[in-house]
Amino acid sequence: MAKDVTDSKGGPAHVAIIMDGNGRWAQQRGRPRLFGHHAGAKRVREIVAACPDLGVKYLTIFAFSTENWKRTQSEVAGLMRLFRRYIEREAMALIEDGVRVRFIGDRIKLDEKLVSLMDNLELATAHNDKVHLTIALNYGGRDEVTRAAQLMALEIEQGRLSHKEVDAETLSRFLDTRFLPDPDLVIRTSGEARISNFLLWQSAYAEYEFVDTLWPDFTAGEFGEILAGFGGRERRFGAATV
Ligand code: IPE
Ligand code: IPE
Ligand code: MG
Repeated sequence: MAKDVTDSKGGPAHVAIIMDGNGRWAQQRGRPRLFGHHAGAKRVREIVAACPDLGVKYLTIFAFSTENWKRTQSEVAGLMRLFRRYIEREAMALIEDGVRVRFIGDRIKLDEKLVSLMDNLELATAHNDKVHLTIALNYGGRDEVTRAAQLMALEIEQGRLSHKEVDAETLSRFLDTRFLPDPDLVIRTSGEARISNFLLWQSAYAEYEFVDTLWPDFTAGEFGEILAGFGGRERRFGAATV
């Protein structure tokens, strides 16, 4: 897939965000972690709404990782409830605002009700094209590549694919992100400078931006500033320029 998709303003066409820091935001206020998750969920609308003006065609957000099941049962249950409520509450606005929503990650561990809400939202927004919002839910980069390898192995076993055809392009077609260009920019909030298993394969040449702001405090204004800074970066994709 194209690695250097940039919009006409020279900004990144595909931005991926690791929305981190909800727990600490709540803790600073002496509130339970879920209070922070609710505040974080509210931020998403503002960031999605800012995308068209900023030239961002694809926005991919990390909502729940394959490792987040390690949290307490009550936090996990609260998050799953929040995801269900979020889809129910936001569906109409997303449909009307021209946002195409898709989910990446393994749905097998998610409850039926949530999966059916996800399926319905994907269907209801399938003809939208203003902004492509991809929500990573029970997503992990290693898990995704492992599932892709399994799918490929099955195709080979069934004689539909030859091992000689297995290259980077073929593998990309088996990933959850098969419909997405690679991210140009990955932003992580909350001051942590790590990837935490997000878009491992796809971010091979992405630029990274780590900001201290906790996710519930992240504004469209800050988002715009980061994107403005991106324009000045020279991306070489491995080539020499001098
Ligand atoms: C990110 O915020 C949201 C999820 C992982 C679901 P955290 O919950 O990781 O917040 P911190 O890192 O504990 O502050
Ligand atoms: C990454 O944040 C996952 C999401 C933002 C959904 P985490 O808070 O789970 O990552 P670690 O544990 O700090 O690496
Ligand atoms: Mg965190």
